[in-house]
Amino acid sequence: MRRAELGVVELVEPAARLAGTLRVPGDKSIAHRALILGALADGESVITGLPPGEDVRATVACLRSLGVRLSPVSPSPARGEASGWGLRISPLGFSTPHGPLDCANSGTTMRLLAGVLAGSRVSATLDGDASLRRRPMARVVEPLRKMGASIESRDGHPPLVLTGTALQGRRHLLSVPSAQVKSALLLAGLAARGPTTVVEPALTRDHTERLLVAMGADLRVAEGTVELRPSHRPLHAIELAVPGDFSSASFWMAAAALRPGWSITIEGVGLNPTRTAFLRILEAMGAAVQVELAETDMEPHGTVRVTGHPLRAVTLGAEEVVAAIDEIPALLAVATQAEGRTVIAGAAELRVKESDRIAGMAEGLRRMGARIDERPDGISVDGPAALRGATVDSSGDHRIAMALAIAGLDADCVAVSYPEFFATLSEVTHAS
Ligand code: S3P
Repeated sequence: MRRAELGVVELVEPAARLAGTLRVPGDKSIAHRALILGALADGESVITGLPPGEDVRATVACLRSLGVRLSPVSPSPARGEASGWGLRISPLGFSTPHGPLDCANSGTTMRLLAGVLAGSRVSATLDGDASLRRRPMARVVEPLRKMGASIESRDGHPPLVLTGTALQGRRHLLSVPSAQVKSALLLAGLAARGPTTVVEPALTRDHTERLLVAMGADLRVAEGTVELRPSHRPLHAIELAVPGDFSSASFWMAAAALRPGWSITIEGVGLNPTRTAFLRILEAMGAAVQVELAETDMEPHGTVRVTGHPLRAVTLGAEEVVAAIDEIPALLAVATQAEGRTVIAGAAELRVKESDRIAGMAEGLRRMGARIDERPDGISVDGPAALRGATVDSSGDHRIAMALAIAGLDADCVAVSYPEFFATLSEVTHAS
């Protein structure tokens, strides 16, 4: 694949062959949580393998504005598995920030900090960029208010104006399966009186729960219910090497799956079972998937190899969509090359991500010649389609950019979650 930089546009040309071994940047979801929980712990935590993208930098900047000291550490972690940068966190207790906290493009930063700050002793305003200002926040504001939180929003959207206050734990039945909302409520629960229980309509990523347990919180999980009991003991500090981001890796896995004989090996990637449904979906479509789990501690990780074979279409419902929510754009790129109609239903949440991902993928893939049918809560793709080059718009959404690039095109906004994306693309694609 050849790459040419034209200002903010990247041109990606079709590859003859794709092969290689690579690592991806650290997991964003784990990084946000480790930094935030590290800021609440008793003593200094050290987090390495942080991803370089803007989202995690937004969390770091917000924590600094709240008075948390974060200082760089040498990037090589003890296990030698993760790369990226590292931070030592010295929690000093939060202080009221001078201006609004800028969560930039990061919904995880905003929702998790809303949970932490609701029961704190400080006041703060959480704001973000134009895309974040359009995203729904009532899902986190309303249950926090039921715990006693003082939060104002602009009609259920950012900015969120919080005044920290005493909270009361309660039982929440989530109407939308969301790891961000679950995490915000558990973080609020740390400071609340009485237990906080979250019941999920479908299983979502459990990184917060794993970290809380590792840091000594009194937390129990059973059949879609998480219960946190406040403890008088503070959380222990942690040392954590963040594994590679499975969702970033999914674009490479999708690329390898596109053609029989193409193959990619990804080392040091996070393999938390609440994140890896995409591997089962690729297998169901016909790709060969090999997984080698490393000796695992808090967050499972290891090596994944995906090799392309003739593909067939799949049908996914709401539960599978939740389990692979960030991988659906990559999956749609793969579906263009699968025999038959791939149907994705129960996916309305994709419309309220960093962009409307159903509309963005439908539009981009259609321009490339794919046959797409879009519905309010889903999308279907008829394959296989011979895709042609086209100019597409990623709507400023990193995952749309990467998915369309994998389908063969250009992008201009990959710096959000994966700045090295195009450099790696050049390394693994071969002209002959
Ligand atoms: C995330 C949860 C998911 C996911 C997002 C990261 C997290 O969002 O799409 O990229 O770190 O908790 P929702 O909680 O809105 O489903």
